Amino acid sequence: MKKYFLIGLILLTGCSYNHDKRFEKKIVIGFSQCTMVDEWRKAMVEEMQREIVFHREFNIDFIIKDANDDSQKQIKDIRELVSLGIDLLIVSPNEAEELTQIVEEVFNKGIPVIVIDRKINSLKYTAYIGADNLEVGREAGYFVRELLREKGKILEITGSKGSTPAIERSKGFHEIIDKYPKILTTKIIEGSWLEEKTLRLTDSLFQAFSDFNLIFAHNDFMANAASKSARKHNLKTFIIGIDGMSTPNGGVNMIMKGDIDGTILYPTGGDKAIQLAVEILTGKAFDKSITLSTFRIDKNNARTIWLQGQQIRDQQNRIDKQGEQMKDLSSILYKRNTFLILTISTIILLILVITIIFISYRNKNRMNKLLDEKNRTIIHQNQIITKQRDDSLHLLIVAEEAKENKLRLFTDLSHELRTVVTLITNPINDILSISGNEIVKNKLKMVQRNTERLARLTDGILKFRSIDENKYHLTFYTANLSHFVENILESFHEEANKKNIKLYTEIDKDIYAEFDLGVIEKVMYNLLSNAIKFTNNSGTISVFLKSCEAKVILTVQDTGIGISKKELPFLFNRFNKISNSNNFNDYDKIGIGMALTKELIQLHGGQILVESAENKGTKFCISIPQFHTLLEKDDKKGRATELNTLKLENILNQKFEKTVLIVEDNPDILIVIANIIGKYYKVLTAGDGIEGLQIAINKIPDLILSDILMPSMDGMQMCIEIKKHVATCHIPVVLLTAIESQEYTIKGFDIGADAYITKPFNEFLLLSNIKNLIEGREKLKDFFCPSPFFKNLLYSKDNPVGDFIKKCLNNIYENLEDENYTLENLSEKMNMSRSSLYRKIKEVTALKPIDFIKKAKLNYAAKIILTRKDLAMSEISWRSGFSDPKYFSRCFIREFGMNPSHFTESFMNEKKHEQIQALS
Ligand code: FRU
Repeated sequence: MKKYFLIGLILLTGCSYNHDKRFEKKIVIGFSQCTMVDEWRKAMVEEMQREIVFHREFNIDFIIKDANDDSQKQIKDIRELVSLGIDLLIVSPNEAEELTQIVEEVFNKGIPVIVIDRKINSLKYTAYIGADNLEVGREAGYFVRELLREKGKILEITGSKGSTPAIERSKGFHEIIDKYPKILTTKIIEGSWLEEKTLRLTDSLFQAFSDFNLIFAHNDFMANAASKSARKHNLKTFIIGIDGMSTPNGGVNMIMKGDIDGTILYPTGGDKAIQLAVEILTGKAFDKSITLSTFRIDKNNARTIWLQGQQIRDQQNRIDKQGEQMKDLSSILYKRNTFLILTISTIILLILVITIIFISYRNKNRMNKLLDEKNRTIIHQNQIITKQRDDSLHLLIVAEEAKENKLRLFTDLSHELRTVVTLITNPINDILSISGNEIVKNKLKMVQRNTERLARLTDGILKFRSIDENKYHLTFYTANLSHFVENILESFHEEANKKNIKLYTEIDKDIYAEFDLGVIEKVMYNLLSNAIKFTNNSGTISVFLKSCEAKVILTVQDTGIGISKKELPFLFNRFNKISNSNNFNDYDKIGIGMALTKELIQLHGGQILVESAENKGTKFCISIPQFHTLLEKDDKKGRATELNTLKLENILNQKFEKTVLIVEDNPDILIVIANIIGKYYKVLTAGDGIEGLQIAINKIPDLILSDILMPSMDGMQMCIEIKKHVATCHIPVVLLTAIESQEYTIKGFDIGADAYITKPFNEFLLLSNIKNLIEGREKLKDFFCPSPFFKNLLYSKDNPVGDFIKKCLNNIYENLEDENYTLENLSEKMNMSRSSLYRKIKEVTALKPIDFIKKAKLNYAAKIILTRKDLAMSEISWRSGFSDPKYFSRCFIREFGMNPSHFTESFMNEKKHEQIQALS
């Protein structure tokens, strides 16, 4: 692309270069004229200018200086011309002597000098042009001799005596006339080439002398002056001059008019001077001295010459006009040239731009083609890749579906197994507790142990599935881990005893930790059962539990057969077979137990390490974080102590005070659950959701425990209905099902279920959940009703009172923004007359309705303070129906005995205190 621009530029530069070159050859010619006062001098300049027109190609700059007959001025003029940078000087020196030096100076500087008409006293000039003045003088002499017939008196009027024409003309003249003794030059006066001066001189001369037969003037202007004076003084005499110009005031016309008798032609040579200058400057050969021809003009040839002169003048005029036209033409030509150059430049540029566009377009097309080709290749490759990907995806989906189907089947079977296990476990427990026959008891205990193992194995499978699907969620309880571990250990004593294995324990007392009961139980069972299995008779199993740096460390060490170095790295791999276990023909030889243990511990935020030596034993070391939240330790201890009381023997002191409704369609399971719950709560039962809902509305239990999958109305739907109903919405609902699915859990919580427990359930867990929920609901009352006044009313044994108050409060709270809310407004909403509402409020609360409404608003404010710590007091005041925060503050202090800003802290402290008291 760049190269095309370059070519364009070169072409354009070329055009402009040629154009400028024509005008660049400028020549400066300086002309120093001695005077411009007379026509002869003017004619000389005109001839020069006319000649210059013929040399337009040199672009001649012609500078003229007029010395005005003053030699000193002429010297100055020449210097000025030189300083202007003239290439050549033409000079017609006023006086030879004065001008010689300056002309030499110019010549010596290397500037060519042409001397014209008058000379200097030196040959230091380039060339001379002019007629031969000696010859001119001689011709005049011959002419005079003829006119005077060799006898007579002559008056000679000379030019300036310092000028060479005057000297030479006089010399030539006298060369001739002096040969004739009777021709006498009686007077010589210096007319200095000027008509006026001569007129003055002759006028005065003729007054004194008048016997002149002939007057010889060195030029026609002075001759004309003499003629005028002669006529004036009536002097009859011949008069001759020099120059012979064919102009109206020139010598030829003077002859024709009879003013003078003759003249000698003295040409100016202006045209010749320019020709010579061009020759010199262009380096052509030239003559150093050009002598212009001269001849006599008298009455005989004057007319002819005049006519010739006339013709020449006409021609000159034409030439001048042509010159003018040439100038105009040249200016037009210049303009046209400029236009042409611009047009050509534009065309060239246009061609260039078009070429560039064309080339770019061609390139673009080529590129597009290339790109298209590449694109096609890419699309093709893409199609291949997409097809490959789709194929792989399809294979993957098919494989995934197959896997999923297998797993689902496996999972469903496991669920079924768990339900069956539940149905076996609980009746066995009951029979065991009532049977007195030791043999039966022992057999049953064996059945019990194996069903428990079966439950753990199915549980393990299901847990894995949950972990795989990221659906396994831990539930952390803060409890006495030491007790929990000791409890689990108790159940292994018998088994250990059978193999005469010493079960050594070192459990630090009262380690409170936050842990998932199920996880720890499973891990313990797995580690201990493995330890017993792989430890030979009379071996030792040691269990250590200690807390250290916010962690709990559980160690299970045995003196069993150990694991080989080769197999140790694969211990925690799923379905890894431990070769050493070949002797043990049971399910646990498949490493699922260890893999599950590791995953559960990791889920718990902990880690498990193993050390083993073949035939020496194995040591598992588990560390888990002691606490998972940032709650204060004191607080944890409080809660932990509280939860710790959940041991089955002393789970609740307040037996049968609270009621639990069990909704379950399977009568066997219903009985099992009822047996468990019935030990601590009043039990109500229902066979499906519809019945459950009915009983819930009628009896308002403290908690509902429901299966999910039931005929007519399932547990989910029933839960929705219960939460919708005003009378039952506060009742905690626990969903109990064999379906361990995250989807169901989320759905359950979405519809407002308070807990979700899977079957087969752990009695301990079930009961602790129930207890927590019932107590939690009690505690919530405080938050939803911080004012003890309203709390007592709302939760009074007298249901109608509670309902009435609840209705009142609801109406008041719906209109909190209305500052002018009055009893009238409330009575309308309550469908009661003003007076009956007044009485009712007074009767139930012992307060005037206005105070009752204010109290209600303050209760609402307290509730916001407890739940919305982000709100400013002014906003809480406004939200509670108090437009003036100061008034609100005063009322609040009066109601709760403290500033609103201290309320939360004081309330929490009080609740904590109450809890501690209740626990001690
Ligand atoms: C003009 C003139 C002519 C004469 C010439 C001599 O100035 O006087 O008439 O021939 O000069 O230089």
